[in-house]
Amino acid sequence: MCMIVVNGGKPLSGEVGISGAKNACLPILAATLLNEQPVTLHNVPRLDDVKFMGELIRILGASCEGASTSNTVAINAADVNSTEPPYEVVKKMRASFLVLGPLLARFGRASVPLPGGCAIGQRPVGEHLAALRALGAEVRQEAGLIIAQADRLVGTEIYLNVSSVGATENALMAAALAEGQTTIHNAAEEPEVVDLCRFLTRCGVKIEDTGTKSITIHGQSRIAAAVEYSVIPDRIEAGTYLLAIIATGGSGRITQVVPEHLEALLFKLRECGVQIETGADWISVDSPAVLKPATVRTEVYPGFPTDLQPQTTAVLTQADGVSTVIETIFESRMNTVPELRRMGAKMRVSDGTVVIEGRPGCLTGVPVEAHDLRGAATMVIAGLAAQGETRIEGLEHLLRGFESLPEKVAALGGDVTFDYGKHTAAAKE
Ligand code: EPZ
Repeated sequence: MCMIVVNGGKPLSGEVGISGAKNACLPILAATLLNEQPVTLHNVPRLDDVKFMGELIRILGASCEGASTSNTVAINAADVNSTEPPYEVVKKMRASFLVLGPLLARFGRASVPLPGGCAIGQRPVGEHLAALRALGAEVRQEAGLIIAQADRLVGTEIYLNVSSVGATENALMAAALAEGQTTIHNAAEEPEVVDLCRFLTRCGVKIEDTGTKSITIHGQSRIAAAVEYSVIPDRIEAGTYLLAIIATGGSGRITQVVPEHLEALLFKLRECGVQIETGADWISVDSPAVLKPATVRTEVYPGFPTDLQPQTTAVLTQADGVSTVIETIFESRMNTVPELRRMGAKMRVSDGTVVIEGRPGCLTGVPVEAHDLRGAATMVIAGLAAQGETRIEGLEHLLRGFESLPEKVAALGGDVTFDYGKHTAAAKE
């Protein structure tokens, strides 16, 4: 059994650099399928999810070098010869569904397995399909596959019911090769969506009003531009390390970040009494003697990010008083609560709201489980704040989204190791 082992109980301090954004590089890797010329991506984090996306685009016939082994990834999608990614690869990662838009746009057809739900929710894709239909595609579900066809996509006005990040990204990539102009209304404004728009613009696609709720794309007949592009920093990784420092009552600095991407978190932390300074590409935090409680409500960007909700919930167990956390984006993103209660936290959940009776020093290291990526990071934070050793089952979740976590925590004076277990260690030799 692969475990994350955390020895906690002491304040973190020091400086740590942040990697490129997983949720920016995954849609950008999918978007390389639109381009008939070579693409080189920089600042790509070495993660399992990047490995999975690299495998996927190679199976479709593209070349892809460096995914998960280097921070520079070279892709050439000139020779893509399949529009039917296999279920075995797609099921490893929901973001695989992002190849639907580019394959349909470039080849006029695509057959992509419907992603299932996951630990945080049902994760429907109806908005993705509605956007492609609006662009003129015939889209149907058959035997667990989403099958989409269109001789040529035609630009149009799209109105999303939900400001879905993935639906906005699939629609953007499809519209890039549609005939004429498309405007996506009620679009997601997340920085990762903006990064995808910037990448497409670098590929020669004219896009207006990037980063707003209404994005206009002028479709091209083809995309054939050799491109080098550097991915934005990972705001969720950045926020996770800030929260780890604060959970332990420490002080520290994170570098290679875009502070503007974390404004909602920084605002909330200031409310809790945290001293914060920011520069062009860094943020430093200094914990108060006693953390004040807070009310947190997740929202689409620029609201408080759902991907930092579980981590923040863990930190608020250390506040002196009652905090409330309301999760409005996903219907079951509370699976860390039972685990935090095992460690001694006093919390109760009802209808997507957690009420936390915070008490500094209330956590004790015990064996716990993680069920998803951000949940695993949450349990690491709790372990760093707790007295003693916390053994966390679910290392495979963490490896999907946090590059070199033990080394980064060590740079802050913390102690996290991965225990691959005897039998697994043998298998790894
Ligand atoms: C992206 O997922 C991120 N993943 C998620 O990060 C993130 O939590 C999420 O955006 C919200 O910010 C990647 O970018 C790879 P959504 P996505 O479509 O696109 C509902 C992580 O830990 N919805 O914006 O799947 C949906 O059920 C992951 O890195 C529909 O109803 O998120 C959810 O309630 C977790 N119909 C809400 O919208 C649809 O067709 C937001 O989902 C699509 C979504």
